[in-house]
Amino acid sequence: MLAAVNTLSSSVPVELREVPEPQPAANEALVEVRAFSLNRGELRLFQVRPEGWRPGQDISGVVVQPASDGNGPPAGARVVALTDSAGWAERAAVPAHRMAVLPDDVSFEEAAALPVAGLTALRTLRHGAPLLGKRVLITGAAGGVGHLATQIAARSGARVTAVVGGPERGRHLIGADEIVEGIDKAQGPFALILEAAGGSSLAAAISRIEPKGTVVVFGNSSGELTPFSFRDFAEHPNARIQGFSYFTSEPEDRFAPDLGLLVSLVADGSLKPHLVERSWRELAEVGPQLRDRQIRGKAVFHVD
Ligand SMILES: NC(=O)c1ccc[n+]([C@@H]2O[C@H](COP(=O)([O-])OP(=O)(O)OC[C@H]3O[C@@H](n4cnc5c(N)ncnc54)[C@H](OP(=O)(O)O)[C@@H]3O)[C@@H](O)[C@H]2O)c1
Repeated sequence: MLAAVNTLSSSVPVELREVPEPQPAANEALVEVRAFSLNRGELRLFQVRPEGWRPGQDISGVVVQPASDGNGPPAGARVVALTDSAGWAERAAVPAHRMAVLPDDVSFEEAAALPVAGLTALRTLRHGAPLLGKRVLITGAAGGVGHLATQIAARSGARVTAVVGGPERGRHLIGADEIVEGIDKAQGPFALILEAAGGSSLAAAISRIEPKGTVVVFGNSSGELTPFSFRDFAEHPNARIQGFSYFTSEPEDRFAPDLGLLVSLVADGSLKPHLVERSWRELAEVGPQLRDRQIRGKAVFHVD
């Protein structure tokens, strides 16, 4: 079968190659992959993983062979799934507890946008629960995680301030009370801040958090450091900086229910992933566009 494979070349970091068919373990289903999405974090993996490594976490498709231990969706089910790697392929082996069945009206492309970005949006926001009536600040709101977090926060009753990098970057956003260009224009205080840019953005976030509020630090897109000290909390007593990893923040057995929740929100119209859709043969061209902040929402690829 064909699969995306790491090349370690800076110009074409991934290419499609013939590879052996997956051999699912007893707890894994074999899925025929229809669509997948690319995450900013995966761009870095291309550089640090060896030649021949097989990328791919976010996939959607059809179960061709259910897990032999009897768990998970049956053959023929349309599913969304989260794999550790090797998902960008014609077929992938997926742990049965990391997939959810798609409602009929959720497309493979919408579903493929959800695992990493949707779980991150959902689970970072839980640090501010209940959100009803609270002010939430979301940095990187134009991106994969940010645009989904904006919608889920609004759906949960929060008043959302979305931070984007320029006038065109927020055009696809749904649910924000206000959209500001740069965090410096955001007027605090906020009960919850989702922060993934790092550097001066994280420093600005700390200066806008409510007493006892929470800044969830889940990325460092800028690559910059943030010096801060106890004194920065003088006006923000007992505020918390919460580190976050979508993969380990909740137990393994929460993956399927959370993926199921995300697809149900798409099905009822309250979550609309913004998609930039391409063929998987265009992976190498889209990566630099994501890196250079030219993609709004999620880059999703058809396995055609
Ligand atoms: N901890 C976890 O479990 C976890 C899970 C998923 C993602 N992440 C991290 O969360 C961040 C967002 O992920 P994503 O998939 O949503 O990425 P994305 O789609 O590329 O979105 C990131 C957004 O951040 C904004 N940004 C602000 N400053 C930036 C900078 N210096 N460099 C690049 N972008 C900048 C960009 O929007 P503007 O151009 O409009 O400013 C961009 O749209 C990444 O750092 C990723 O590694 C962490």
